[in-house]
Amino acid sequence: MAKKRTYLILFGAQGSGKGTQARLLQDKLGVPQVATGDLFRMHLSQGTELGKLAKSYMDRGELVPDSVTVSMVEQRLAQPDAAKGAIMDGFPRNLAQAEALDALLEKWGTGISAAVYIRLERDELMKRITGRRTCKNCQAVYHVQFNPTKVDGVCDQCGGPVIQRADDADEAAVARRLDIYFEQTTPVIEYYRGKQVLKELDGSLDIDAVGKAMLAAIKPKPARKAAKKPLAKKVVKKASAKKFGLKRL
Ligand code: AP5
Ligand code: MG
Ligand code: ZN
Repeated sequence: MAKKRTYLILFGAQGSGKGTQARLLQDKLGVPQVATGDLFRMHLSQGTELGKLAKSYMDRGELVPDSVTVSMVEQRLAQPDAAKGAIMDGFPRNLAQAEALDALLEKWGTGISAAVYIRLERDELMKRITGRRTCKNCQAVYHVQFNPTKVDGVCDQCGGPVIQRADDADEAAVARRLDIYFEQTTPVIEYYRGKQVLKELDGSLDIDAVGKAMLAAIKPKPARKAAKKPLAKKVVKKASAKKFGLKRL
């Protein structure tokens, strides 16, 4: 039997709180956050070819081509720390990526545990994005109003510099990211709804409340007790087992 793994997908528009919740969930679920945006930013800061390629798309608020993104995710999910699964943050973002992830997990004899959609209105998303600050070292996420650092400009977790992401500072790029999201990522909601793994959450609550609602939504439901079989059926079963010479287990 395939090993039990957890592949949780968090999706929602830019600023809906995927990254914030994914970081909090890592310890609770014992699997790492895999955030495509963070991976691209890491490549960029290391000056890799992939980082340079991704930058041109990220600066315009457009999606990095699927082939590049999917192979980067596949490599990341194959790392030892993701052996028991991962919290996918920002991936998949369109139908092609959703299908590619399904194919990959199927190849590994597993599948998606749940896909959580964090819903939030556009006005609120703009407030979240424009006030966001991110640690340059560890990518921890803050907000000037909703979740400020204890010391101005210094990361609570690693002491690194907390800055505004380049793509958050450009309002036109932010608006474009949101347009692309609603155009390309919304069909992914229906894709997961069809697979009956979709959970929807109200992202307008505070960080703690969203976290609690998320844990409740992804908690496996207790198995329903099997209904007692009527006696007559048992007799029939016994009889047919005898008839076909089957051993009763
Ligand atoms: P990415 O890094 O994924 O950015 P994004 O999609 O724009 O998503 P965000 O990180 O903006 O939002 P979030 O939901 O994580 O919100 P957060 O938790 O920070 O991608 C960047 C770029 O990379 C893309 O534009 C694209 O070019 C490329 N890319 C990435 N993935 C790709 C893919 N799969 N395919 C192709 N290209 C890809 O929260 C936002 C703010 O709100 C924070 O300040 C936070 O402190 C605050 N906050 C969070 N929750 C709450 C709450 N409940 N109440 C109050 N404040 C809150
Ligand atoms: Mg994020
Ligand atoms: Zn940090």
